[in-house]
Parts: sequence; structure tokens; C-alpha cells
Amino acid sequence: MKQDLEKLLEAAVAQLIEQQLLPAEINYRLQISDTKDKAHGDLASNLAMMLAKPAGKAPRELAEQLIAAIPENPVIAKTEIAGPGFINFFLASDNLGERLDSMLADERLGVPLKDSPQTVVIDYSSPNLAKEMHVGHLRTTAIGDALNRVLTFLGDNVIPQNHVGDWGTQFGMLLAFLEERKLAGEEPGSALSDLEEFYRRSKARFDESEEFADTARSIVVALQSGDADYLSAWQQFIDISLSHCQQAYDRLGVLLTREDVHAESAYNDDLEQVVNDLAECGLLKEDAGAKVVILEEFKGRDDKPQVVIIQKKDGGYLYATTDLAAVRHRVRQLKADRSLYVVDARQGDHFKQVFKVAEKAGFVPEHVSLEHIGFGTVNGKDGKPFKTRSGDSIKLSGLLDEAEQRAYDLVKEKNPELDEASLREIARVVGISSIKYADLSKNRNSDYIFDWDLMLSFDGNTAPYLLYAYTRINSIFAKGGIDPEELHGPIQLLHPKEQDLANHLIGLNFILQTVSERAMPHYLANWLYEISVKYSSFYEACPVLAAETEAEKISRLSLSALTAKCLATGLELLGIETLEKM
Ligand code: ARG
Repeated sequence: MKQDLEKLLEAAVAQLIEQQLLPAEINYRLQISDTKDKAHGDLASNLAMMLAKPAGKAPRELAEQLIAAIPENPVIAKTEIAGPGFINFFLASDNLGERLDSMLADERLGVPLKDSPQTVVIDYSSPNLAKEMHVGHLRTTAIGDALNRVLTFLGDNVIPQNHVGDWGTQFGMLLAFLEERKLAGEEPGSALSDLEEFYRRSKARFDESEEFADTARSIVVALQSGDADYLSAWQQFIDISLSHCQQAYDRLGVLLTREDVHAESAYNDDLEQVVNDLAECGLLKEDAGAKVVILEEFKGRDDKPQVVIIQKKDGGYLYATTDLAAVRHRVRQLKADRSLYVVDARQGDHFKQVFKVAEKAGFVPEHVSLEHIGFGTVNGKDGKPFKTRSGDSIKLSGLLDEAEQRAYDLVKEKNPELDEASLREIARVVGISSIKYADLSKNRNSDYIFDWDLMLSFDGNTAPYLLYAYTRINSIFAKGGIDPEELHGPIQLLHPKEQDLANHLIGLNFILQTVSERAMPHYLANWLYEISVKYSSFYEACPVLAAETEAEKISRLSLSALTAKCLATGLELLGIETLEKM
């Protein structure tokens, strides 16, 4: 509900700017708060008071203008100006009970399929296969998968693309080392069982021996020009690395499979054509032997136009060249209407350049949108990127092990009489969801601090809190011997806590639209947290099984069933498993 209002108020401000009633460059932080006394409305905002000064107006006058500029909507029933210039909002609770009844009766919880569904390509996870997946891959994998789920639920045709890095110069080094180890009698399988270790040893050889480095470089050339032996050794390496990734996806409950892998190497044969097409449309320039595109629209630090290298002097292609080929594949073969790239914000310039070159070269039809869905860094408690004590990157598999172990200790402490198998299963779900939820609940544009204690806490906006809230509602049904599927309302909203919860539950559709438009799963996470908190205050104030009348009991049970259904659906759309008992 707050988010609905936020959007409406933002629209009102935009309208006043357009009418020149507010200055164009205005900075403000929208705040919407719950009112203390519901007689004065459900929510309130101090926006008019905040903007009065820059607008050069009296706050109450501005409040009136803002109210007049709020678009037509089904959310607000009434507004009032209070005190020095607060705007109070009374939310529309007309037939809210009935609307919740139909939500409860509907498998899709009243969320319609999109009128014009799109084909959406989502590039996510996309690790480099030379190394094992590490903590840095968590965000792209968790966020991309949540977007995959939400957009699919809304009716889009989602095509995931795991754009794994399998074709860089590093593979020459790894293959050279693999060859050396084989000659030394080592089994390739066992040499590769720990990819991280293998990478480290190869790199050490590369740095210590000029001769080894030369061999590595010549292997890359041989590999990329199709040498059958190197290709088959490389394939073996890639297979092992991909199976490591798949293990991580399965553990994380991520939808990605081998089918979704469309590796960098798959674009190898298209690269020459990309270069030719860029030359043909007159974009390609020579710069010290390299083939480049100069982008006048972007300036570098020295105020010179940015230069995108497409092909190096030695004929080698770059990361950007492959991405240009990928843009075309997604548009032409996959028929994308929307193409999302869930990749670290630090690659922002890369994508800006690739998208611009693609647009100028006519690779992207007008109706297609290319969107870099950037995200911040996962930091340690010191505020620096999360690393091991020795400064190495943290392996994802180890991180997941630790999450499960910590959850195990926690659950065992709370519930010592649980049998071992249940304990392990609960710990698995709690551990994995804590890591994922901690990530998904943050605005993706910000960095965040990886903190075990916070993410595993049973209080606050965490997975354990939400999972527990869900099991608690289930236990009401269990206790009453009631099948929630049998509940159909009518939901009657008599108590303010019931109304408060109801006003929030009705917002699901809006929240999912917002997640889809802005590609920001944290809106859904925060909505789930808020319904849990509101449910909990409702439950404290309103007896359910011990309600005074049968009608009241049915109504409150139905409201509980709807809350549980919303929690289960919402968590599933985030890619988070629920537990029936905890
Ligand atoms: N492999 C790259 C990395 O680990 C990410 C690839 C993202 N996708 C893309 N189309 N460039 O940094």
C-alpha cells in the first residue's frame, strides 16, 4: 500500500513540475508513515511541508495542489490536510473483504496475466568457468532467478541465458597445466576436483615460467582455431566446471539447467560477421592496428570520446565483441522484446557501450529494450568486498555448507528433541533461504554487508522470521483441525488490525507489477515482511480459533489462510522454499 501511494505521489510531483508549480530540479525523499490514530486516516505524508520551501509556497497550499495532481486510482478513498500541512490518506476499503474473498478463491491470488506478455531474455549467473563459483555470483544468480519466476508468473515468456565465460586466454593456461599434470601421471578427474586449487596452481606455473606461459598462449590460439585435441581436453574441463555450477544451482533451488547455458564460445563463429557488419555501416575505425568504434556520446575521463575495441591488432576478439553477437542472437533467434543483464554494477560502462554500439549498428529493433540490471557488492564487516582472511574469494559451495551448518546449530539449540533427519532438512532450508533472502531483500543497487548473525536471526526482515511466520499460521489450522483449502470467507474487516492487514494483502498485484517493471525483487521481499508483521499484530489483537462468533472465526481463519497463501506464493516467486513445520 505504501508503495502504491509512493508511486501516486511521485506522479503528482512530476505533474506539478510539468505545470511549473514546482522547480524542475527538486530533491526529496518521500516519506509515508502510518498514522497513530486511524480516525485521521491510514497513512500520512509530510511531502508538502518538505517541498514548501523550494517551491516558495505555504505548505497547506502546496498540499492542496499535490492532492489535485494525484492521478485517478482505486487506492485512495479520501484525503485530508492536517496540522501544518500533513496529507492524510484514507485507503479505499470498499468491498475490500469481498476482494480478499476472491483473492483467496483464486489460484493466482487475484493476479491477472499481463495483457501484452513479452519474450524476456534474462542473462544471469553467467560465471567464468575457469574458476569455481564464488560469493560474487550469489547476487546475479538469486536476483536473476527471482525475476525469472516473477515474470513467468505474470505471463511473460522468459528465456534464461547463462552466458558462461569459457573462451578467454585463461583456458590456454589451464589446458597447458592439465597437459603437464597428465604427463606427470595425474588423473584429470582428480586434478580438476577442486577447480579453485587447480586454477591457483596453473596461475602459479604461468607466473613462474616464461616457457609455460608461451605454451599457454600458443594453446589458446590452437584451441580457438579448432585444434581437435585441445578442443576435447577443453570440453572435458568445461563439463566438469559446469557440473560444479549445476550442483550449486540445485542446492540453491535455482531454475537454471544445462539447457540454459549459452556460452561465450557459442558465439565464436559470429564474431567475424559482427565485425563485418560494423564495418559495413561505417562505424568501425582503425586505431593503432585495432578495430574500434568511437562513441562521441560518451566521454572518458580526459573528455575524449570513449573507444570500444572490437578486434585487437593480433586478430583477437573481446568481451564486448561477444556481447554484441549475443545481443543479436537474443533479438534475432530468441525474439526478445526485453533483454535483461543481471550483472555487477561495475560492468555498467561495458553495457552502456555495448548497447549503444548495438543500437547505432541497427542490431536492435525499436521496440526491444536492453536493460543492465546492475547490483552492488557483497561486503564483509569491514566494508570491503567479502573475502577469506587470506584475501581469496569465498567459494560459493563452502558458503552454502557454512550456512547449513550454522542453521543446524541454531535449530538444534531451539529444538533439541527433533530427530536428526528433520533437523538436517530444516537446517538446509533455513540455511539456504537465509543467504538468498538476505540478498533479495536488499535494494539491488546498494552494497550490503554479509552478516551471518543478522541473516539467520528469527527477528527482523529475515528468512527465518518469514518461514516461522508461515509455519505459525499453519499450526493454527493444525490445532483447529481445519483444512485451509476449505476456507472461502466471507472475510469481514471489523477490527483495525484486520483492516490494516487487509489493506496490505490487496497490494500483491501492484507489487508484482513493480518488481517486473523495475526488475527489483526487494519490493516483493519487503511486502512479505510487512504482511508477516501485520499478521502478527492482527493475531495478537484478534483471537482466531477462540473468536466470539462462528462468522468471526470463519472470517479470521480465511484471512489467515490468505496470508499463508500469499507468503507461500511470494516466497516461491523469490525462489525460497517454505517449511510446513519448524
Ligand atoms: N562472465 C562474466 C563475469 O563473470 C559475466 C557475464 C555477464 N553477461 C554478459 N552477457 N556479459 O564477469
